[in-house]
Amino acid sequence: MMPKHVKDLELQGKKVFVRTDYNVPLDSDGQVTDDFRIRSSLPTIEFLLEQGAAVILASHLGRPKGSVIPEMSLAPVAKRLGELIQAKVTFAPDCVGPEVDAMARTLQPGQVLLLENLRFHTAETTNDSEFSKQLAALADVYVNDAFGTAHRAHASNVGMTEYFIDKAAGFLLMKEIEFLVSAIENPVRPFTVVMGGSKVSGKIDLLKRLAEVADNILIGGGMAFTFLSAPPLNHNVGSSLVEEDRIQFAADVIDLCLAKGVNLVLPSDCIAANEFSETAKSQELPIRGLEDDLMGLDIGGRTVKSFSSILDESKTVLWNGPMGVFEMAPFENGTKAIAEKLCEITKLGATTIVGGGDSAAALSKFGLDGGVTHTSTGGGASLELLSGIALPAFEALKGAK
Ligand code: 3PG
Repeated sequence: MMPKHVKDLELQGKKVFVRTDYNVPLDSDGQVTDDFRIRSSLPTIEFLLEQGAAVILASHLGRPKGSVIPEMSLAPVAKRLGELIQAKVTFAPDCVGPEVDAMARTLQPGQVLLLENLRFHTAETTNDSEFSKQLAALADVYVNDAFGTAHRAHASNVGMTEYFIDKAAGFLLMKEIEFLVSAIENPVRPFTVVMGGSKVSGKIDLLKRLAEVADNILIGGGMAFTFLSAPPLNHNVGSSLVEEDRIQFAADVIDLCLAKGVNLVLPSDCIAANEFSETAKSQELPIRGLEDDLMGLDIGGRTVKSFSSILDESKTVLWNGPMGVFEMAPFENGTKAIAEKLCEITKLGATTIVGGGDSAAALSKFGLDGGVTHTSTGGGASLELLSGIALPAFEALKGAK
């Protein structure tokens, strides 16, 4: 069962509370350094304004744990949002209390109000019912568009929903669910998964599920070394990152892939260095040639070629996690090559989906945003959804009052 879409609601003249995920990076001058999440919220906001609604936006930023931390204010987001929608965005000094009540009460159709960081109150993360009720009293209609936070059960995305008859998912939340769920449940085949990032931990449920549904699983990034160390491969991977307590799990995934006929491909070479540093001397070496003092920090050219030839044949691709330490120039090539390949096959008709977090940041670093079919705004949320875990905030939208 799906919740209602915002398009299904009566919105004319209504006050609409929209939970967004504006947890965006800020620099030391308080400027938004990546506005992807803000831009992704525009379709819902613009739709609501066109329908004649008054829009009350709320989000968290960072983890202030109930304290008012000025560096975590949403004020810079109000400024950036105003530039993007080319309209005034009024900024409230808090998210509850008499002043905010008055601001919400006098808000007119076509106007936008952004509330201050919800997590300046611990009641947000404890899903406190009194706090939920106070937030709910600000509006007539509830819309959740915060996919990035949908794996949390907090007051603004779960508790509040109980107080509304009219509630729905926004354009972004719906789009994320549709892309990610259909990729994993009903992919056009061959379906290839590119997995990376430093650790196997945190991706256990996802790897188990993918081994059931993918045609190819290509593993790069630091996590590849735990797989390469696992039986039956038992490679010596020098001083590369290996999670000893995940080796057995990696061996089980290798067995499962064999049993299911999934083509699991691991790196055959890497860019190695003797320290985790941008200035370290790096060299391209076969995995088998790694001396004890060397660590692999990116996939090598041969691996890029073998991954690329599988991607060329793929019709659906899911990419989660970088191939190396792409933040450092000497170790960015593998991630860049895979990102470019994804853009190339997208033009040829493949559906390419990038899980949020680091892979989305990599796309953006290489100027390739927009080159894939869908880039998720959620890191943790996309991992959980793809792992088959229900997202509490999405489920809450389905319930009756
Ligand atoms: C995110 O950036 O992943 C979301 O905004 C959730 O943030 P959280 O992990 O602090 O709950």
